Amino acid sequence: MIAALDALREEVECCSGCVLASSRTRVVFGEGDPHADLMFVGEAPGYHEDQQGRPFVGQAGRLLEQLLASIGMTREQVYIANVLKSRPPNNRDPRPEEIEACRPYLFRQIAIIKPKVICTLGNFATKLLSGDQTGITKVHGKPRATEIAGHPLYLYPIFHPAAALYTPAMLTTLKEDIARLPQLLAHAAPAPGEEAAGPPAAERPAWRPPEHLRRYEAPATTVDAAAPTLGDAARPSPEPDRPTADSGAEPDQPSAISGAAPDPSPVSSSPDPPPAPESPAEPEQLGLF
Ligand code: URA
Repeated sequence: MIAALDALREEVECCSGCVLASSRTRVVFGEGDPHADLMFVGEAPGYHEDQQGRPFVGQAGRLLEQLLASIGMTREQVYIANVLKSRPPNNRDPRPEEIEACRPYLFRQIAIIKPKVICTLGNFATKLLSGDQTGITKVHGKPRATEIAGHPLYLYPIFHPAAALYTPAMLTTLKEDIARLPQLLAHAAPAPGEEAAGPPAAERPAWRPPEHLRRYEAPATTVDAAAPTLGDAARPSPEPDRPTADSGAEPDQPSAISGAAPDPSPVSSSPDPPPAPESPAEPEQLGLF
């Protein structure tokens, strides 16, 4: 798995599949635990990410780390990637042809990592991975069973942390949505003991969201790496994708997230992480969705 990711990284680092190859400083492939159950997918690298070659290292990244801390997790325990691996100049919106050029890389990352839950941050990642044009304002906080590149998982759309930095109401919602993640992960995880008792992972059938959960969700969709899902997907929708109340997207200029911006520190420092249930609870007990 690690070798497969490394090989893919090398490939992406040489990519010249779109115009962004000529303006980027560094490719931002993604990073984290290659065995993670939880993956985050953002929009595109910003100034700091482009400089360092790492995802979410600016203010939005600090907020993401605080949000993770609020559920007792660290960024090292998850995998973090973006729709685009190269920074659009001046942090403009990703263009359809750029998303299309980068899309196979993201799908291959997902096929290698096989996360149980993908948290899509903002509109671009949500629309691309759901294959659905419904905006983040409508779908945030609602898990959706789906299949990506043949791998069954939950998509869990939430607002983009960069947008929440400047919109208190969005931040409140983002914190509420993040607080439900441990229960979603517990549902998605194998029951205690299953790992030890069952056959080796490679011989087990692929994990699927439990049947009893699906009735609580939007209809499952299948998004195939090879399928032409983009089409309209990346076209500007009536709903703006950038730093508006709906977006969940990165502010426009690096300066907006550097010195002049207010310190995010909006996430209370250390609420107790919700206890992980011993065994997957019934949805009624969770009261989640
Ligand atoms: N915003 C993103 O969408 N991705 C990053 O890596 C940083 C900010």
